[in-house]
Amino acid sequence: MAKIAIVTGASRGIGRGIAKRLAADGFAVVVNYAGNSAKAQDVVNAILKEGGTATAIQADISKPEDVQSLFADTKKQFRHIDVVVNNAGIMGLSPIAKCDLDVFDATIATNLRGSFLIFSQAAQHIADGGRIIAFSSSVVLKSFPTYGPYIAAKQGVEGLVHVLANELAGRGITVNAIAPGPTATELFLDGKTEEDITRLRNLSPLQRLGEPEDMANVVSFLAGPDGGWVNSQILRVNGGFAY
Ligand SMILES: NC(=O)c1ccc[n+]([C@@H]2O[C@H](COP(=O)([O-])OP(=O)(O)OC[C@H]3O[C@@H](n4cnc5c(N)ncnc54)[C@H](OP(=O)(O)O)[C@@H]3O)[C@@H](O)[C@H]2O)c1
Repeated sequence: MAKIAIVTGASRGIGRGIAKRLAADGFAVVVNYAGNSAKAQDVVNAILKEGGTATAIQADISKPEDVQSLFADTKKQFRHIDVVVNNAGIMGLSPIAKCDLDVFDATIATNLRGSFLIFSQAAQHIADGGRIIAFSSSVVLKSFPTYGPYIAAKQGVEGLVHVLANELAGRGITVNAIAPGPTATELFLDGKTEEDITRLRNLSPLQRLGEPEDMANVVSFLAGPDGGWVNSQILRVNGGFAY
C-alpha cells in the first residue's frame, strides 16, 4: 500500500517542489493550497503525468474547521496518513515601532496558529512510525529589522517542534523542522530589488539562492527510510547563510 503525504502550501514555491519529490519517491500526495486552485491542479497534473498519485485539497491552515476537513478528507480518500509536511506560510514584515497589528496577526495566524492546528491534527491522525515536518526560517538567526512578526511566528514553530516530539513519545513518530535560507520563490523575490537579492544571495558562502528542490531533497530524506533517527531537530538548509 502506498504511503500517504499531506503537503500544505503545495500550489507554489517550495511546497510544489516537495509535493513533486514525494510523489517521485512513491507517496500518494495531498496538494494543499489556500486559494490558488488552478496552480494546485497544475501540480496534481504534473504528478499524474509522471505516473504518480495526487489530489488537491483546499484548506486555510489558520482555520480549525479547514484543517480538520483537510485531515478528514485525506483519511476518507486514502485511509491513512504517514507524512505531514506543514510548509504553507506567509512573510509578514513590518518594523516593531509601527505596531502594525494587521501584519502581526495575519503572520501569526498562518505561520504559528496554522502550525499548531496542523500539528494537533497530525498528532491525532498520523500513523505510528509517521513523520511530521514543519517549516521555520534561517532568518531567525539574523534578526533583520522588519522581520519581527515573521521571526516571532517561526521561533514559536521551533518551540512547538520539540514539545510535539516529546508528546508523541512511544509512537515512533519523528517531528522536525526545516529552516530554509533565502530561496527563489514568490515569497522571497516579491518586492525585493536586484540589489537586495544579490546582497542576500551573497550571505551564503555558496553564493546562490536556495531552490525549492534543495528543500525537497531534505524533506525526502526526513520522510524516507534514512531519516528515521533524526528527531526534534531544526535543520538549517541554507547553504551556510546564517553563520
Ligand atoms: N522562500 C524563502 O526564502 C523562505 C525562507 C525561509 C523559510 N521559508 C518558508 O518556506 C515555506 C514555503 O515558502 P515559499 O517560499 O514556498 O512561499 P510561496 O512561494 O509564497 O508559497 C506559499 C504557499 O503557501 C500557501 N499558503 C499561504 N497561506 C496559506 C494558508 N493560510 N493556508 C494554506 N496554504 C497557504 C500558498 O497557497 P496559494 O497558492 O493558494 O496562495 C502557497 O502554496 C514557508 O513556511 C516560508 O515561511 C521560505
